[in-house]
Amino acid sequence: MTPKARDKAPDRPVALVTGATSGIGLAVARDLATRGHRVFLCARTETAVKQTVADLQAEGLTVEGTAADVRDRTAVRALVAAATTTYRAPVSILVNNAGRSGGGATAGITDELWHDVIDTNLNSVFLLTREVLNAGGLSTAPWGRIINIASTAGKQGVLLGAPYSASKHAVIGFTKALGKELAPTGTTVNAVCPGYVETPMAARVRTGYAQVWDTTEEYVQEQFEAKIPLGRYSTPEEVAGLVGYLTTDLAASITAQALNVCGGLGNA
Ligand SMILES: NC(=O)c1ccc[n+]([C@@H]2O[C@H](COP(=O)([O-])OP(=O)(O)OC[C@H]3O[C@@H](n4cnc5c(N)ncnc54)[C@H](OP(=O)(O)O)[C@@H]3O)[C@@H](O)[C@H]2O)c1
Repeated sequence: MTPKARDKAPDRPVALVTGATSGIGLAVARDLATRGHRVFLCARTETAVKQTVADLQAEGLTVEGTAADVRDRTAVRALVAAATTTYRAPVSILVNNAGRSGGGATAGITDELWHDVIDTNLNSVFLLTREVLNAGGLSTAPWGRIINIASTAGKQGVLLGAPYSASKHAVIGFTKALGKELAPTGTTVNAVCPGYVETPMAARVRTGYAQVWDTTEEYVQEQFEAKIPLGRYSTPEEVAGLVGYLTTDLAASITAQALNVCGGLGNA
């Protein structure tokens, strides 16, 4: 289907957004639905999923969702099946957003923490992508978008964040390889790399550094903001704006890229 034919199609593209009850994922779900996509979202906490779906529906948006843990391949299978069954359509847009922070002095990192960060931030991206390509119908679709929320920590090392940085570097590598693989198919694959974004995760990260550095969260925030040329955290909506743009036809020639939204923090 050509872009023009797609725009005229009665069925609007289905967008699956993971980790969409909070922060960046929530802003992405709202932005994509506002652009006219039919959004299916997930997070682990069922009550939050129900509330988010209800809130977005109350805004007049086409949004459904289910509880799912992206670390669990059975749950991932059920999630993609739920999206295609709900809208009776393939998944055209996948936003792999669910993620967690995690780190500390490397000598003290447990197997459990290491594997959970990698499972949540990296292995989930593979599991979801493979499932959407197969059961979700994307591998035979004439048009599609895969957008992975990585991080500027996927381009530069983050102090006391070895598991997190490793997972996000790997997500960018996966994105670049898959972008080349799918380029002839009409599906673009990109990573969006936020710097510091004001979300519940960002607040938890400040709490963690305040404990390690034996200082206040306000001091940590000042230190972080001093590193950002713009002098402030980005907003979830600013990250969602780039994700939304990548779903447009004007962005058809952007693929296999890792694009920052970071107030100048990253320069690669
Ligand atoms: N905030 C930043 O400064 C920043 C910077 C760079 C990159 N990022 C990346 O942006 C993404 C979103 O971050 P955020 O700051 O918006 O985080 P957040 O506010 O903590 O939101 C995370 C969302 O993901 C869900 N989630 C977490 N683990 C999940 C799992 N295993 N399965 C399904 N859903 C899961 C959470 O809901 P449940 O807990 O209910 O599952 C929640 O909806 C992450 O990939 C993060 O690494 C954030």
